[in-house]
Order: sequence, then C-alpha cells, then structure tokens
Amino acid sequence: MRRMAHHFHQDEDLWGVAGLLHDLDYQEYPEEHCQHVESMLREAGYGDAMVGAILSHGYGLCTEVKPQTDMEKSLYAVDELTGLITAVVLMRPSNLSWILR
Ligand SMILES: [Fe+2]
Repeated sequence: MRRMAHHFHQDEDLWGVAGLLHDLDYQEYPEEHCQHVESMLREAGYGDAMVGAILSHGYGLCTEVKPQTDMEKSLYAVDELTGLITAVVLMRPSNLSWILR
C-alpha cells in the first residue's frame, strides 16, 4: 500500500496504515467481517478516507461499498495480490527471488 501511495503521490503513511488495519474486525468477528470496522475506526478518530478504503476492500464479499478512489481501488487490488503471493510462497517456498525483483 505504501508503494501504491508513492505511485499515486499520496500519503504513504495513511495508505500503509490502511493496509495494516484493513482486517481489523476479522479476528473478533470473522462471520461479520467489515460489519464492525467502521465504528472501530470512527471511535479511534479515523476519517472518511480510511473508513471508505477499509469498507470497500470487502466489496462483493462482505460489503456493498464499491472501491472508487485510488486508495480504495489499491487496497482492493493489493489485498487480492497478497493472497496470490501467499499461495505462491506456500507452493514454492524455496524460490522467492521473483518477488524481490
Ligand atoms: Fe478483509
């Protein structure tokens, strides 16, 4: 997310935090993922950009909040990409050099 923020000339810290917090409510509410995160974020003082990005990462799965901003679209895509990377690492743990290029 920080790299995507850099690409779009946006706040790398904000986007990085979005990446770290995007599954904030998953561990406590796995069956209600994305249903509790907005109140948690608002209570912690986060604004619309963070809330929108995190809610929209679950578009089509656990929310109907469609990714629209660059931050929202990036989180949605990066979340899926990290899943792919994790699958590849599990299948080929001895050869990760292509990821580091
Ligand atoms: Fe999630």
